[in-house]
Amino acid sequence: MTNTDDTIFSLEDVSVTFGKLKALESVSLDIHKGEILFITGSSGAGKTTLLRLLAGQLKPDSGKILLPKKLTGSKLFISQVFQDLKFLMNKTCEENLFHSFDRKIYPNKKNFLSEMRELCKILGIADRLHLKMDKANGGLKQKVALVRALLARPDIVVLDEPTGSLDVDNARKVYEVLSYYNMKKKLTIIWASHNRELVKKFTGRIIHLDSGKLVYTGHACFI
Ligand SMILES: Nc1ncnc2c1ncn2[C@@H]1O[C@H](COP(=O)(O)OP(=O)(O)OP(=O)(O)O)[C@@H](O)[C@H]1O
Ligand SMILES: [Mg+2]
Repeated sequence: MTNTDDTIFSLEDVSVTFGKLKALESVSLDIHKGEILFITGSSGAGKTTLLRLLAGQLKPDSGKILLPKKLTGSKLFISQVFQDLKFLMNKTCEENLFHSFDRKIYPNKKNFLSEMRELCKILGIADRLHLKMDKANGGLKQKVALVRALLARPDIVVLDEPTGSLDVDNARKVYEVLSYYNMKKKLTIIWASHNRELVKKFTGRIIHLDSGKLVYTGHACFI
């Protein structure tokens, strides 16, 4: 464990078991503030389990995990976009976004609205915000979930298959929005995807899981 100043997550020899199944086995990993980290691996490899550990939803059965509060002394805010996107289904996309307005984050509501509109414009969903959530397709839902997560002004965003319902061009838009926040606000991005070919196109570090084991770590473009 290297615990340099900018380490915000540190896992040492971490295992998670469900009954007899080892969902994660002896995973050691440091994640640094401001990095873009992709977690790849096929279905069942342990990606969601790892994200749930990082989000504090799950505790390891063995090994040691240090979360941001412990490592930095301050509580960094984590926005989560998991696969079971939770919305008010009888409300429109826009109403769902308004629902997350928080005056503590945006003393001036105009700033919330302009950031929301800008994000929706870049993601190409500005003209579909009037749709009821239960009429929205998977891609629109994923983009609304991303906008909602970013509007909360997190320090860290944890995303589970955030582009699973999107084609490559739209997945790139998602990446571009996230990398803009990464550059401008030092947002730490942790993005799980089974689609290694997709994330290889982006800039960031990749870790690859195979049957719960961390088998590769390296730069996305070198795989
Ligand atoms: N709550 C649970 N109870 C029992 N088994 C679980 C639980 N969560 C995950 N598993 C099992 O642990 C293994 C890893 O699951 P995980 O969901 O982390 O994989 P994944 O890489 O996210 O897969 P996918 O690409 O399908 O989302 C799988 O075999 C899964 O069936
Ligand atoms: Mg998963």
